[in-house]
Amino acid sequence: MNQEELFKKLIAHCKEYGFIFPSSEIYDGLSAVYDYGQYGVELKNNIRRYWWDAMTRLHENIVGIDAAIFMHPTVWKASGHVDAFNDPLIDNKDSRKRYRADNLIEEHLQKIDEKIEKEIEKAAKRFGSSFDEHLYRTTNPKILELSAKGEALRARYVKALEKDDLAELRQIILDEGIVCPVSGTRNWTEVRKFNLMFETKIGSVAEEASTIYLRPETAQGIFVNFLNVQKTGRMKIPFGIAQTGKAFRNEIVARQFIFRMREFEQMEMQFFVKPGEELTWYNFWKEQRMKWHKALGMGDEKYRFHDHDKLAHYANAACDIEFHFPFGFKEVEGIHSRTDFDLGNHQKYSGKKLQYFDPDLNQSYVPYVIETSIGLDRMFLSVISNAYTEEKIVKEDGTEDERVVLRIPPVIAPVQIAVLPLVKKDGLPEKAREIISRLRFEYNCQYDEKDSIGRRYRRQDAIGTPYCITIDHQTLADNTVTIRYRDSMDQERIPVDNLETIISEKLSMKNLLKKLL
Ligand code: GAP
Repeated sequence: MNQEELFKKLIAHCKEYGFIFPSSEIYDGLSAVYDYGQYGVELKNNIRRYWWDAMTRLHENIVGIDAAIFMHPTVWKASGHVDAFNDPLIDNKDSRKRYRADNLIEEHLQKIDEKIEKEIEKAAKRFGSSFDEHLYRTTNPKILELSAKGEALRARYVKALEKDDLAELRQIILDEGIVCPVSGTRNWTEVRKFNLMFETKIGSVAEEASTIYLRPETAQGIFVNFLNVQKTGRMKIPFGIAQTGKAFRNEIVARQFIFRMREFEQMEMQFFVKPGEELTWYNFWKEQRMKWHKALGMGDEKYRFHDHDKLAHYANAACDIEFHFPFGFKEVEGIHSRTDFDLGNHQKYSGKKLQYFDPDLNQSYVPYVIETSIGLDRMFLSVISNAYTEEKIVKEDGTEDERVVLRIPPVIAPVQIAVLPLVKKDGLPEKAREIISRLRFEYNCQYDEKDSIGRRYRRQDAIGTPYCITIDHQTLADNTVTIRYRDSMDQERIPVDNLETIISEKLSMKNLLKKLL
């Protein structure tokens, strides 16, 4: 099964098992908008909690806020979103499909990179243990030609972006012979700009109504509250403000399930520093954020940094943390050194001083900012796509079977413990509920007594429950239970009193957070 088919199965699985539903599904859905179901919301909350606690509990100089989605319209003028939050669009006249011109070129560049990697792979197989990859990369004529082509194209593309040259973007698409994936033709329109912000009206009387925007990022709610928090929290630089919440973007090309949505959630932290110290802090946050991702244990090789080809005019350093999704390495989080651009502009547009008095220097300045910005839904997608596994298994009677298991990191699994009485009688349900009543304060537990024990295990595998605890008649006699492990499917008999020690090691948020120190 290829990655595309697997991804389709994942989407179907998310719906079938109550993780993610298309929005307003009974009306045929709304493009690029999704609802989280009963298990989805638990997983989402757990990811949010992991992020929130890592930010606000592990750093005594970071505090959180929860700003409103609606903001004064001038905020978006000052932030640059009204004038510059645009995507370059291009339409294919035959398929009538619309694309982002930059995405078409980036995907083309990625194909060149993939060709190079394939050539290397082939050579490695051919030469076996004597293969010298570095030598091959630097001397093989085909590789050299492809690398030069990629580099020249990348340089041309970055220049076009920097100059905001829409005609040149189109020309690149034509020169490279990039075709529409649907029609297969090169019949392209001009490239146009399209602002991504959603507008609405505030006020009940039409004449008084004024246009406001649904926020396209949560960051600005932090900037406009910079002084409020600094003063009331008596915060000293360096310090950070964290926030999670909804953001809205009228994405032109909304594809790949919850990867690019029109309504989504961000988890952002703005870290205010002394001018001149920003690059030290930028590197600090790059390392911290990578550690946060890797601590979940989904595989270190699944992550990489990608430095931005083109820096925004206000940034002096920027990179993405990319995750290996089923459709390739893609951005899951951005880390940006935003200089004093945002606070400086809000100061200019509002006429209010947004400065920090530094007692060490005995002077005031507009702080510089390092931003870490991660999409909660995109993080969710990385977890669930990495977790989805189809496995062939051999049953106790020797016959073969299949199972779908979500290998979600146990600490953020939506249901962490399932407690299953072997039969619905003889006091077993009561004993099961007694165990749940002990564990539920710390862990999300589920009780299930319906169907055979094998079917119940499968149901729990499909939602990613790391531990199933089975209560049988022996439990009543000696207070022991069977614990079944999701990933290995191993089972062992343990005293009820040992349960918490065994499960807490893997399920404790405390242990996960400790890895970040
Ligand atoms: N304040 C900076 C900012 O918003 P961004 O790179 O535009 O930066 C940050 O967005 C993160 O938000 C991305 O890395 C991604 O995880 C998430 N994100 C952005 N647009 C998204 C969308 N349309 N759907 C889902 N997640 C999105």
